[in-house]
Amino acid sequence: MTRRAAITGWGYAVPESVVPNAYFEASVDTSDEWIVERTGIRERRIAGVEESTATLAGGAARRILDRAGVAARDLDLIILATATPEQPVPQTAAFLAADLGVHCGALDLGAGCAGFVYGLVVGAAAVAGGTFDRVLVVGAETLSRIVDPEDRSTVILFGDGAAGVLLEAREDGPGVLAGDLGVDGSAADILAVPAGGSRRPASAETVAQREHYVRMQGQEVFRRAVRAVVDSSESALERAGVASSAVDWFVPHQANLRIIEAARQRLGIPTERTVVNIEHYGNTSAASIPLALAEAADAGRFSPGDTVLLSGFGAGMSWASAVLTWGAR
Ligand code: UT7
Repeated sequence: MTRRAAITGWGYAVPESVVPNAYFEASVDTSDEWIVERTGIRERRIAGVEESTATLAGGAARRILDRAGVAARDLDLIILATATPEQPVPQTAAFLAADLGVHCGALDLGAGCAGFVYGLVVGAAAVAGGTFDRVLVVGAETLSRIVDPEDRSTVILFGDGAAGVLLEAREDGPGVLAGDLGVDGSAADILAVPAGGSRRPASAETVAQREHYVRMQGQEVFRRAVRAVVDSSESALERAGVASSAVDWFVPHQANLRIIEAARQRLGIPTERTVVNIEHYGNTSAASIPLALAEAADAGRFSPGDTVLLSGFGAGMSWASAVLTWGAR
């Protein structure tokens, strides 16, 4: 008997407010045409004043549990991946646990846009190893709170949202087959929020220097992203013993349509087997892969037994891929 972690529930929650590209034409030197052509993004969701990373995570978590038919009290562990925590202390997962009314283990995971797949791989290992039976993995972000409204190269890219899955133990059934995780910390500076931590605590100076906003060397991130997604996907596929030609669905991080296209082509995965929803949400960092996964699942695109490849990259530079068979039997 082989014990695996199967995805038995999925769901997402996004803010109601839809912000089209044209909105940014008033505040920075950009155009809808440039944004669509260079990124594939047409609109994104932006959190309202009452919304935060934890409220969005709560909305997603309730849908995930509903879909699985599992009560929150039966959770063993909550892994919440985010780059935009509720506040520095305590962990955002504590707010989510309180919202769900549970006292199980609850931790935050920081691996930028790779955070959700990082959490999925670690959570699945804990389930497969027998430590836990039910692990909730959520990616939740309010990136609109950390983008510099005056920086045209980042303000147009990011959006807000939350999404995730429930992992449950299954014997000889579908589930996570293999994963690949990595980080190249020597490239930490190419995508970062420089201040607000122990190295550079918040001060009047850090605020004046706009160091609490995301700073990104877009081209360098782009170049590394394609390589990371391809190499990491290949490693995960090899560990799973699955050829890339056998992948039924590729669900990549939604950062830039051109990155998705380049990675897809190099992996030899057809367009129609690649899940893309960047045009409606922009880059929602740790929420992006589960949001694409949950939307595709809701639309009935996955069949039981399908082989699904997830791959993400982001700040760190971190990368993470997972290969799984779809189904909840
Ligand atoms: O989730 C992980 C993190 N993020 C990413 O994966 C993002 C990776 N990078 C990217 O997606 C792309 O590099 C960007 C979308 C950020 C930028 O696209 P690009 O094709 O790499 O543009 P670029 O940085 O080479 O800039 C080309 C030009 C520059 O002008 P000059 O110097 O040629 O006059 C930029 O200043 O485009 C300019 N530009 C813009 N123009 C209009 C940059 N942002 C904008 C903008 N509107 N919003």
